Amino acid sequence: METSVFILLYVILFLSTLLSYPFLRKKKRGFRVGRSKLPAGSMGWPYIGETLQLYSQDPNIFFLTKQRRYGEIFKTHILGCPCVMLTSPEAARFVLVTHSHLFKPTYPKSKEKMIGPCALFFHQGQYHTRLRKLVQSSMSPDAIRKLIPDIESIALSALDSWAASAQVIDTFNEMKKFSFDVGILSIFGHLEEGYKQKLEQNYRIVDKGYNSFPTKIPGSAYHKALQARERLNQILGEIICERKEKRLAEKDLLGHLLNFKDEKGQTLTEDQINDNIIGVLFAAQDTTASVITWILKFLHDDPKLLEAVKAEQKAIYQSNSGGKGHLTWAQTRNMTLAHRVLIESLRMASIISFTFREAVVDVEYKGYLIPKGWKVMPLFRNIHHNPEYFSDPQHFDPSRFERAAPKPNTFMPFGKGVHACPGNELAKLEALIFIHHLVTKFRWEVVGSKSGIQYGPFPVPQGGLPARFWKESSCPSQNMCP
Ligand code: HEM
Repeated sequence: METSVFILLYVILFLSTLLSYPFLRKKKRGFRVGRSKLPAGSMGWPYIGETLQLYSQDPNIFFLTKQRRYGEIFKTHILGCPCVMLTSPEAARFVLVTHSHLFKPTYPKSKEKMIGPCALFFHQGQYHTRLRKLVQSSMSPDAIRKLIPDIESIALSALDSWAASAQVIDTFNEMKKFSFDVGILSIFGHLEEGYKQKLEQNYRIVDKGYNSFPTKIPGSAYHKALQARERLNQILGEIICERKEKRLAEKDLLGHLLNFKDEKGQTLTEDQINDNIIGVLFAAQDTTASVITWILKFLHDDPKLLEAVKAEQKAIYQSNSGGKGHLTWAQTRNMTLAHRVLIESLRMASIISFTFREAVVDVEYKGYLIPKGWKVMPLFRNIHHNPEYFSDPQHFDPSRFERAAPKPNTFMPFGKGVHACPGNELAKLEALIFIHHLVTKFRWEVVGSKSGIQYGPFPVPQGGLPARFWKESSCPSQNMCP
């Protein structure tokens, strides 16, 4: 009897604590530390916070509802972490640029392990600066302009194979292969096909396991991915060994990583080289594939715009002796309309909707306290979709960039500050080259009527944009193109 009363009391106590938690949190809303107070917002339930609310709906609706309720800065609790979310350009600049030393990059340990803990985006300070310089040199305009003919042939081979198959393809999935191949090119230059295939096979397994539940139970996607990540290290070891034996001094990313020596003559370790190669491959793939998939959707949905882009690109095609010559760097810089379509797609899709940092000390911003150890999330997408900065923000309108340049810090598709994307020029180049060959030689039709966004975790059109492709030259005879 005594035991059952004790259990009953325990249950009542537990339930009352659970139910009173939101009220307790409300009381704490005005809590002050020093002169500053925590931002307004809700911390949700104990332990789980507002994770369920975030994942049971479109994440952007979650962020937008909060912004409307609490303003440009608010607190919440997701995935076991207290967070402060920021939705204004000034706040994003504060965290990423002017006070970046007060915030460190932060990723779940399971993800760090999968990419490799020495990859530059997990670091700050001297190590980060060194690695970043190496990545930047291999992705500089001078370096990537030499890749144009190879990127063209990768794009054409992908488009030819889709048209030849006459099948409906998952555009995003196929674009991932395209951006993977370009990533390999920028890291290794011309890599032997056998190595490329082995890297691709294992990278696919890592890619599948990256967003799965991190358990080491044999057979789980995460466990398989960890094993594949180990195999990637072995393959990279073989490639590096071969390059050293042949004494090739290439100017690609691998060359820069292998040639690096610090002031004491120290070179990078094997892990540092491997983790940064996998890191760059990872950062380059889904992001670029996603934006090109969106471009295809937006052009398909606006026939007038597509005709205008075609006219611009056909003029370049004609000036290259009917496509016999390669595109030049100058031509890719003068694709005015295609460039506007690209940047408007980046704004609309906001592929990296937000980023994470962690406060390394208590920080005060506009009278609010961001406590040490809390996560801080500048919400890029909210800024890109704020009507104060972009009129009629849900409307795809490339001409907005012709009418006026975005206000400072309101357009950050590649981030801002010390961790801003070093691959942004390569991503843009890939997209422009792809558009050129797509609209001058091919037609495509989106299949099915699914609309909306799918998160995986990057935003892509529903179903990866199922589409069918035709070679324009084969259209008049077959009379079957859209
Ligand atoms: C459309 C395509 C791309 C988009 C939208 C994109 C976006 C971004 C953003 C927003 C960041 C900053 C993240 C943060 O501050 O936490 C970033 C970082 C990074 N990106 Fe990209 N990226 C793209 C393509 C690429 C490509 C093609 C490469 C390499 C070839 C690349 C390599 C990197 C690396 C290495 C970092 C980490 C930089 C650092 O921590 O210093 N990205 N990217």
